[in-house]
Amino acid sequence: MIMRRSLVVGNWKMNGNLASAELLAKGIIAGLGSNNAEIAVCVPYVYIPSISEVVKGSGLALGSQNVADKASGAFTGEISAAMLSEFNCKYAIVGHSERRSYYGDTNESVAARFCQAQEQGIIPILCVGETLEQREQDQTFDVINTQLDAVINLAGINAFNNAVIAYEPVWAIGTGKTASDEQAQEVHRYIRQYIAAKDQTVADKIQILYGGSAKPDNAKGLFAMPDIDGGLIGGASLDAESFLKIYHSI
Ligand code: PGA
Repeated sequence: MIMRRSLVVGNWKMNGNLASAELLAKGIIAGLGSNNAEIAVCVPYVYIPSISEVVKGSGLALGSQNVADKASGAFTGEISAAMLSEFNCKYAIVGHSERRSYYGDTNESVAARFCQAQEQGIIPILCVGETLEQREQDQTFDVINTQLDAVINLAGINAFNNAVIAYEPVWAIGTGKTASDEQAQEVHRYIRQYIAAKDQTVADKIQILYGGSAKPDNAKGLFAMPDIDGGLIGGASLDAESFLKIYHSI
């Protein structure tokens, strides 16, 4: 049996200021203790240079919340993977539902972003998940197939050797409504089996995180599920104490 290392990632979204960002990162580092799980924070682009300095030499890894779908050129407002790698970003979230629904990121552009990150040695955290309406219409697995296929078709299944998947049911993000342990496990198992049908080794190895109103009081149950390898944490990652509680409940 393959032992997957657990991973907890904070997604700060568009919150805080430079001073609070530095304080938060320092607070997290101070409470890391001895925990074999990996931990990272995905911070607003403009704070990447400064947080990159703060995390240097610590066990806290750094990531971005998105990355451009192109390598360089006339793409006003975009940030390339090469730029992110200059500041030691280990991870880049791609395909977050807020990007998909508010800013028009499509399955195709998400796949291109995924590839751009990997070209620079950055590990993409690919977010997938259904809306409430899609769940109620029994389309959860179809939606996830389509979201995964876009990336598999462009990057190939072996690209998932250096990637993380985050299952984030859209109806659970920022709503306080978490998927139950069993609901989340059902989809996580489905995702792993979907990948296993193409490559068993890749499926055994890939970390699949749960995201959507994960909090200190529900993290333990979620993380105990066999196919849940950690979490992508929004709201609860903005406070060092609650983020660390989640991390230490692995
Ligand atoms: P939430 O966000 O924990 O605030 O629900 C999760 C996410 O969007 O990654």
